[in-house]
Amino acid sequence: MSLAKQVIHVSRQKLVDSECAETWSTCKIRLKKSQLKMKNHEELPIPVYNTLEPVYGEGSQLEEARLRFDNLKSKFLTIFGHPPQVFARSPGRVNLIGEHIDYEGYSVLPMAIRQDTIVAIRKNEDEKIIRVANVNDEKYTPCTYPADPGQELDLRNHKWGHYFICGYKGYYDYAKLKGVDVGQPIGIDVLVDGIVPTGSGLSSSSAFVCSSLIAILAAFGVNFPKKEIAQLACECERHVGTQSGGMDQAISVMAKIGFAELIDFNPLRTTDVQLPAGGTFVIVHSLAGSQKAVTAATNYNNRVVECRLASIVLGVKLGMKPEEAISRAKTLSDVEGLCLSFASSHKSSDPVFAVKEFLKEEPYTTEEIENITVEKLTSFFGSSPACLNVVEVAEHYKLHQRATHVYSEAKRVHAFQEIVSSNSSQEEMLMKLGDLMNESHHSCSVLYECSCPELEELVNICRQNGALGARLTGAGWGGCAVALVKESVVPQFILNLKKNFYQSRIDRGIITENELDLCVFASKPSSGAAIFKF
Ligand code: GLA
Repeated sequence: MSLAKQVIHVSRQKLVDSECAETWSTCKIRLKKSQLKMKNHEELPIPVYNTLEPVYGEGSQLEEARLRFDNLKSKFLTIFGHPPQVFARSPGRVNLIGEHIDYEGYSVLPMAIRQDTIVAIRKNEDEKIIRVANVNDEKYTPCTYPADPGQELDLRNHKWGHYFICGYKGYYDYAKLKGVDVGQPIGIDVLVDGIVPTGSGLSSSSAFVCSSLIAILAAFGVNFPKKEIAQLACECERHVGTQSGGMDQAISVMAKIGFAELIDFNPLRTTDVQLPAGGTFVIVHSLAGSQKAVTAATNYNNRVVECRLASIVLGVKLGMKPEEAISRAKTLSDVEGLCLSFASSHKSSDPVFAVKEFLKEEPYTTEEIENITVEKLTSFFGSSPACLNVVEVAEHYKLHQRATHVYSEAKRVHAFQEIVSSNSSQEEMLMKLGDLMNESHHSCSVLYECSCPELEELVNICRQNGALGARLTGAGWGGCAVALVKESVVPQFILNLKKNFYQSRIDRGIITENELDLCVFASKPSSGAAIFKF
């Protein structure tokens, strides 16, 4: 099917998306609505609106959005000499539970936050360049790139505009995959307004990549099911060198107002999770920056590699031939079955039983692993520059600890979902969720080692000041924590945090009093990506 036909096909579906404010005749809409009720939310295309209310609601949030859109329109005209053609927005997220397990194939449970990135875009047929500007031009100076989807991003010289190019490459990757000829690349003008705090573990990078990809698709008149867009966004974000797992793009694209989502992978699927009344998730910044792309080789991608090695070693110990383990044990979920059968033969139903038996607690050297795999690490990671970068600098690999974290965290996600859908009293529910969050943090901190001193201090202060549970959120190594707090004590909790965590930082000049509200805020589950055509 040509891209144009796909557009028609999808825009027909779009008409019946209850979130969609677009036209055709109402009678056709009514007709199709009944047919589409049967469609899963993730099968629907990105909604297209001609007003801001469906996403930004009313009140101060809507007012703020109006100002941002007006500013984008006028600045776009000033910078590029013509108005934008279309806008796309995608939100950041806070992960409630399920950390560092999405890339191992396990379900996670995040919710979208109200902070988002808006991309204003226009095709520019007269130019052969991509011009990416930002409303915050002091911090983010304009970038230009050739209109060439085959370009490699210079990862040693990381620029903020690279995230837009991820989306741009994603569009052409998709066209290529579908065998569609989209013609010669043309110029694109882009203006970005992002208010997801950067380096905070709230997924500002995915909000930017998703809104970029969706804006490009919209500019070229293409739209398709959200789950395919989320998958594509996940793949194309890897052009900046991180091997991320898909949670951030999935929630940014598929979130629904009022719900957290249980996200399953392979295949990608979301299930709405209604959070218990009486509890609020408060997001608090540790003020330690977390630059996932820049530190990938020693932090994020290092853990991806360790999990892969743990899967292979477990596979071999549980009976696979080394070459079979290398080709089939890509993630810990691939060898969970083997771990479970071993565990069950010892009257256990916990895959960690096999981890304890077969992975030693002391770190593995490269040589020890290569004795098991009978192949050099540089050989089987040969096709992945990101993994090779890890292997180049890694001194050892902590397979026992990483695998124990992944299997136990995967269980906590399901326990979390079971608790919120149980008949327990509100009080009991909140207590149990808080306990799970604390256990998750402990595992991230001790087994996965993705915390940092500032996060440890912050999480402790949260617990000492009324949080039922608190944990780091997102990749870690800095960024934010999320605390579960009874609604009735949220204002006091925030005041206590300001006094006990932030005041000394204000005194030391790390932040100003005015920036405090950006560092501590309560968030309700917000809506997913959208396109605006006015
Ligand atoms: C980052 C990645 C996600 C996920 C989290 C950790 O945000 O982009 O895919 O792995 O870290 O849970």
